[in-house]
Amino acid sequence: MSEASWYDYPQYFDMLFRDETASEVEFFQQAFERYGNGPIKRLFEPGCGTGRLVIAMAALGYDATGLDLSDPMLSYMKQRLKRRGLTATAINGDMADFHFDAPFDAAFCTFNTFRHLLTEQQALAHLNCVADCLNDQGLYVLGMHLDPEEEYDPVVERFTSRSNGTVLKTVISVPQSDLKRRQETLRIKLNAVQRSGKKVRIVSEFPLRLYTAKQLKRLLKKASDRFEIVETFDFGYDIDDPQPFDSELLEALLVLRKIG
Ligand SMILES: C[S@@+](CC[C@H](N)C(=O)[O-])C[C@H]1O[C@@H](n2cnc3c(N)ncnc32)[C@H](O)[C@@H]1O
Repeated sequence: MSEASWYDYPQYFDMLFRDETASEVEFFQQAFERYGNGPIKRLFEPGCGTGRLVIAMAALGYDATGLDLSDPMLSYMKQRLKRRGLTATAINGDMADFHFDAPFDAAFCTFNTFRHLLTEQQALAHLNCVADCLNDQGLYVLGMHLDPEEEYDPVVERFTSRSNGTVLKTVISVPQSDLKRRQETLRIKLNAVQRSGKKVRIVSEFPLRLYTAKQLKRLLKKASDRFEIVETFDFGYDIDDPQPFDSELLEALLVLRKIG
C-alpha cells in the first residue's frame, strides 16, 4: 500500500460521498427558502473538492463557484461539468485567504472541510473571507464533526462503494488525537479494484483541527461581528428538526447569517 493524498484520487473521494449529495442539496435549498433574505442565486463553496455539491447546485440552475487548493480535484470537477454540459466556476485558492469582487447570496462548507484550517487564526481568517464575499444577510451553511467533552475511543469506519464496475473499500480511522493541541490525524485507506482488474491501494493521512461544541461556540463568538447563528441541525439534514447546540451535538450543521 503506497502513501498518497486522498485528494489526488477525486474519483474515489466522489464514490464515497456521492450518496450524501441529494440530502445536502435538499437541505441547502430548504435553508435558503427558510432563512434567506430574498432570492438566492449566486453560491460559493470553499474547499469544494470534486465539486459534487457545486455541480448538483449548478444542475438546479444556481450560479455556483467552488474554490479548492487541489488541482486534481478541480480538474475532475471541470471534466464532470463538461460531460454534463453544465457551467460553474472552479478556482484554485486557499480558503483562509481569498477575495471575490461580485458577492454571493449564500455559501456552504460541509463534511469537516473547515477542520482543515489548523489554527484559530486560519479559522477566523476563513470566516472573515466568507463574510466579505457574501451579500448582507447572506447565509453560510457550515458542517463538521464535533468532539465530545470527555475522552473517547475513535471508531474505525468501513465503507464499500460500487460504480461502473469499480469496487472501492475505504477505511477511515484516527491513529492520533491530541486534545491539547486540538489536532487529530485522519487515516484513509483506499482499496479499489477497477472493472479491468487493475488495483489501486493507497493510504493517506492528514491533520484536522478538533472542536468540541464549546470550542466551536467560542470561535463563532469571536466572529460574532460577522455572523450570527440562525439555527443548528445535525447530519440528518432535516430542516424541521433543529438540534440544541450543546455537548451532545457531535454532527454539527450550522446555518449562519452574515451580520449586515
Ligand atoms: C473533505 S474534502 C471536501 C470536499 C467537498 N466540500 C465535499 O463535501 O465533497 C476537503 C477539501 O478541502 C480542500 N482543502 C483543504 N484545505 C484547503 C484550503 N486551505 N483551501 C482550499 N481548499 C482546501 C481539499 O483539497 C479537499 O478537496
